[in-house]
Amino acid sequence: MKHKAALKLVKDKLPEKRYEHSVRVAETAVKMAGIFEADKDKCYLAGILHDYSKYDDLGTMYQYVTKYNLDPALLAFNSELLHGPVAATIMRFEYGIEDESIYFAISSHTSGRPQMLLIEKIIYVADYIEPDRKQPGVDKIRDLVFEEKNLDLAIYEITRMTLKSLLKKNRPIYNRTIECYNYYNMVKE
Ligand SMILES: [Fe+2]
Ligand SMILES: [Fe+2]
Repeated sequence: MKHKAALKLVKDKLPEKRYEHSVRVAETAVKMAGIFEADKDKCYLAGILHDYSKYDDLGTMYQYVTKYNLDPALLAFNSELLHGPVAATIMRFEYGIEDESIYFAISSHTSGRPQMLLIEKIIYVADYIEPDRKQPGVDKIRDLVFEEKNLDLAIYEITRMTLKSLLKKNRPIYNRTIECYNYYNMVKE
């Protein structure tokens, strides 16, 4: 899919604010691609498309989980977690985007997972640090990325903060997020 087509697809579907967030994630991902030597085109495309299913109806999302044999554990969660795997599935099967790294980048952008691919790592982090993000600790992550250029440590810190925030809100935690935390805890330097 061409960038222009992806932009139109997302602009027509998402509210203006979410569209603008998607563009910022794509631009942050391209900037990071320059640092970590990733494919800029793929980073941009994955960034634009990552939140495509953000506001899809939950029942429809569950149908995708069943129809495409996604992890059944996802059925216990709401759209906040599901919109990644569902958007990745739609892009692969309905829009013909076959690239594996784009698939995983969209799919894991909320949960993370162990041993992420380079573009997957970049989208996971770019979504957290795009210029409009103001959550506590975000500047520390920006430094890890743009100054220290330590992507794995950035992933670890993001996952740690995500877990803390979920626990604080008494929210359920997806296994893959815990696995992501454990994995990057082990490999970070
Ligand atoms: Fe998202
Ligand atoms: Fe996002």
